[in-house]
Amino acid sequence: EKGGYPYFMLKEIFEQPDCLLDCMRGRINIDADNVTLSAVIDHKDKLLSASRFIIVACGTSWHAGLIGQQLIENYCRIPVYVEYASEFRYRNPVILPTDVVIAISQSGETADTLAAIELARKQGAFVFGICNSVGASIPRATHTGAYIHVGPEIGVASTKAFTGQVTVLAMLTLALAKARGTISQDEYVKMVRELVAIPEKMKEALKANEQIAQMAKIFTYAHNCLYLGRGYCYPVALEGALKLKEISYIHAEGYPAAEMKHGPIALIDSEMPVFVIATRNGMYEKLISNIQEVKARQGRVIALVTKGDTKIRDLADEVIELPETMECFEPLVVSVPLQLLAYHIAVCKGKDVDQPRNLAKSVTVE
Ligand code: M6R
Repeated sequence: EKGGYPYFMLKEIFEQPDCLLDCMRGRINIDADNVTLSAVIDHKDKLLSASRFIIVACGTSWHAGLIGQQLIENYCRIPVYVEYASEFRYRNPVILPTDVVIAISQSGETADTLAAIELARKQGAFVFGICNSVGASIPRATHTGAYIHVGPEIGVASTKAFTGQVTVLAMLTLALAKARGTISQDEYVKMVRELVAIPEKMKEALKANEQIAQMAKIFTYAHNCLYLGRGYCYPVALEGALKLKEISYIHAEGYPAAEMKHGPIALIDSEMPVFVIATRNGMYEKLISNIQEVKARQGRVIALVTKGDTKIRDLADEVIELPETMECFEPLVVSVPLQLLAYHIAVCKGKDVDQPRNLAKSVTVE
């Protein structure tokens, strides 16, 4: 059932291009350059009149939520708040009847996310679920939603569910932005076409597997790692760090690259691998300065760059090249090498990547 792969996690990483096609199937009409989500058609009024969105989730799903926040705010011009479900449910939050709560959960069984939904419903909010497991408790507790349809995820470390969640959030953004008139037709068409092209770009990103497997051997010694990103890729840095922590037991932190100088830079020395997401987007020049800051302190920089980049190749110790895409879809491509990196480091350390210690696939305890 592992399809020839040694672990489910690796199988699930490699499945992602196909999973995203499944996720988009029937929702994106390429001939008409159009995105439709049935939930958006059925609940148009509720969704279009939302005064704000509140995203509730845990772990990796929360990271997907942070990307969703940027997508929705950028293209739909609606304020979006992202909350850890476990904090939200206990802190007596302000919830308005005009709020739409988006609950994201792969398993659909996470206790804190379920409790956050119940709280939101009690206070009159409309709840939209983004789940993978069909018929689980969370999809049953929501008013409506969209499944990610990426198939069962067995590895405890979430991989394809994360990219599926981001893809659904991207489709939701496109459907809402079009209905609200906050996106130009040109931009809309460009985004739809690029989203459809992502699975092929992921396949290209997967070609870095061998390079990453080799590179991983160097990093098994590390006790601490830093992941830096900006904009849409800041949550990807958080997600890369979480992947490494949970399966390799190496301490890792994700940071917005510019925050480094406000503290974490003190940690940097020649022992510390720093993974920098430095693709060629609006933040490129700023990221180059951030890399220079790390290098000036003898840090070891492994940069994820856009194919053909030469500037960063000269600065970094190692580079992983990735196909170019629109900035807002970079998380879908950039996540791939970070998943592979965590996987290979954990395997080099002899860890059971599918069943890491102390972790369960569904966290049904509070
Ligand atoms: O099933 P959920 O998406 O609600 O799960 C949330 C987290 O428990 C989950 O994402 C966890 O952080 C993963 N093990 C991360 O890989």
